[in-house]
Amino acid sequence: MSVRFKTIALVSAVVTIFGVQCLSAGEKEESIATAMVEYLISARAVIAQNQKLINDASQGDKGFTAAVYEQQVRKEFLNRTSTDITKMAADDFGKALSDIHQSAKQVITDAQAQINVPGKDFKGFNPAAFGARVGAVLQKRSDIQIKQTSLHFRATYNKPDDYETALLKKFTTGTKDQTHTEETTVNGKKVLRYLVPVYIAKSCLNCHGDPIGAMDISGHKKEGYKEGDLRGAISIIVPVK
Ligand code: HEC
Repeated sequence: MSVRFKTIALVSAVVTIFGVQCLSAGEKEESIATAMVEYLISARAVIAQNQKLINDASQGDKGFTAAVYEQQVRKEFLNRTSTDITKMAADDFGKALSDIHQSAKQVITDAQAQINVPGKDFKGFNPAAFGARVGAVLQKRSDIQIKQTSLHFRATYNKPDDYETALLKKFTTGTKDQTHTEETTVNGKKVLRYLVPVYIAKSCLNCHGDPIGAMDISGHKKEGYKEGDLRGAISIIVPVK
């Protein structure tokens, strides 16, 4: 079984178990962390699926509203986790998932003018930029931190901390698809940290592939990655209550 499928099985099992309230401290945070990362992966996939539309210079209003986004991300997240993001319970798990979903919808709403500007192809709205904004909005309503990071970061807000740097190095040489879960402390507070590696797919090569140093459509230098290379990780910190 691949790690991805194990994760999905874990999330579904945890959601079911969570309904009858029998998770211990730590396990609860782990279920929250796993599901929130699955949400961000689903959300990024929805942006990727709409990238052509978003980049269409011939069209003004794209109709890619928060409501349209919600429909699509609901389907994507349901496929990945068997959980309906629009029907979350009022417990800690449901609240954490609703928080990230509401944050994502807010980012889409706030980006309407940017997405709908006519006569421009790349508008700075791609999965990574979207993910970073979701993390920033989430911080205003939650004490959970989620980010995308890389040893070769383009945006300084994606810069890894020491903990993430060590793990990214480990992911670079280690077995593919290994994730990392650990209870540790940040600023003296007990937290659960969970990291999931992100690899380069064919669709990433336009911007992150060859030739090294050439400008991509977003005005950044291409890094020369090959398909299957480690690009970075999604990193989440959940306070343990
Ligand atoms: C249209 C060009 C484009 C494509 C295609 C693209 N990216 Fe990026 N990527 C960017 C830009 C631009 C940034 C910097 C984002 C920001 O400003 O927040 C970035 C940042 C990232 C980051 C965050 C770390 C950093 O460098 O700041 C990750 C992880 C990432 N991309 C992974 C991917 C993966 C995986 C794919 C393919 C599935 C992909 N990208 C496809 C343009 C692209």
